[in-house]
Formats: sequence, structure tokens, C-alpha cells
Amino acid sequence: MQGFQLEIFLETTALIERAVQIWQQRAAAAVQEQGRFTVALAGGSTPKRLYAALAAAEGIPWPQTLLIWGDERYVPPDHPDSNYRMVREALLERLPMPVGQVLPMPTQAGDPAQDANRYEAQLRQVLAGEWPQLDLVLLGVGEDGHTASLFPGTAALQVQDRWVTVGQKEGEPRLTLTYPVLNQAVQVMFLVTGANKASILKEALTGEAHLPCQRVNPKGRLLWLLDGAAAALLPLRTGLG
Ligand code: 6PG
Repeated sequence: MQGFQLEIFLETTALIERAVQIWQQRAAAAVQEQGRFTVALAGGSTPKRLYAALAAAEGIPWPQTLLIWGDERYVPPDHPDSNYRMVREALLERLPMPVGQVLPMPTQAGDPAQDANRYEAQLRQVLAGEWPQLDLVLLGVGEDGHTASLFPGTAALQVQDRWVTVGQKEGEPRLTLTYPVLNQAVQVMFLVTGANKASILKEALTGEAHLPCQRVNPKGRLLWLLDGAAAALLPLRTGLG
């Protein structure tokens, strides 16, 4: 893995505060440079806490923010497993986002490949370039080393010619952004908490590259925010007691 920045927080609340701060900084810089801030959201438990904190945070340029999704479970938008639903409940119901600036992944065609194509077409209408340059990409890591819906041993890992593709979790389809899109980002921020992630993080951050999350090597900055439990097996943590 190329160079990355690692920050470890003893408390998850401090990690969330830091993630809010990074979001504010990136958003301010992007709006100043190009009048818009584009961010890809992650599913999962830690991002959910971030979204709730963002809903209450000051100084975020929501009218200039475009929210897209890094991955989605292939379920209807009101399903309890829907990442869109999670973001809606944690964030969107609490703040006014302009119509057209929230782009959830479609999951209603009955055919994941068709919905992946449709989402790519939607993104191409609002994001320029052969590959879009997202200002911020939020990601988590699963205990198997997956990130977004890029799961070990699946075809989605090989996709180099699409923005959006179909991922598989134990045979269940999902939609996911592809590596070429993730790796164009100005900044990628992994948020990982909990003791159940300690072992995979040790492998991801200190071992040979073979996990899906290790292939996230953005052109811009790569930042890992971990809590103490997730970082427990990293050699770096020795000095923290
Ligand atoms: C999802 C994801 C996924 C997630 C990891 C970590 O929709 O589930 O986007 O990649 O980030 O599985 O999830 P936790 O933060 O809940 O451990």
C-alpha cells in the first residue's frame, strides 16, 4: 500500500469529531475551488454515527454538496438494510438538501447490472471527465477485508472500465463504485472501529497486499481513522499503553 496517514482515537466520539472536521475542511476547499463538494457515502455502523454528527454540525455548505453512494445493498430504499435509508434517517431527515443533490443508487429494476448502468449514467450527467474526481470518499472495512461492496474473490475487483458495477456478498448482489473511481479521489477516509476489526486491520496496514481494501490507493490523500479497539494489534499502538 502506498503512503497513508493514520490517526488513532481512544474514544469513538473523538474519531467522529475528527471525521466531521475533515468533512468540513474538504468541503470548504472544494467549494472554494470549484463551487461544489462531491462526497461518496459508506454504509456501516461508524459512518452512521458520522452522519448523525454531521446533521448537527455547523458550517457545512449543504447547498453546494452533492451526495452519492459508494455502495448499496440490492434492496428497496425503505428496506432496513438499505444504505440510503440509513443516511436518510441519520442525516437527510434532519437537514434540507436541495433536490437533485442526493443521488442514491437505484435498486428497483429487478436487475442489478441494469441499475449499475443506470447509476453510472446518472453520475455521468453530473460529474465530468472520463473518471470522476470525487472530493471525499468515505469507506469502511469488513472483517474479511472488503471495502465498499468490493468483496474478496469477486468479479467486481477486476472491473477497470466502469464507474459502477455489481458486487456480491455471499451470493447477494450489491452495487458498488469501482476501484478506478475510488482511486481518483482527492481524499479517501476510512472509518474503522471495534475490536472485531483489529485482526483484519493489522493485515491490511502491515501485511502483503491481497485484501480488497488494500487496493484503495487514491491519487489524493489516504486517511485511516481508527479507534483504539480496532488499532489494538497494530505495532504503532505499543506506545499508547
Ligand atoms: C456496507 C458497506 C461496507 C461497510 C463495511 C464495514 O454497506 O456495509 O459500505 O463496506 O463499510 O462492511 O461496516 P461496519 O462499519 O458496520 O463495520
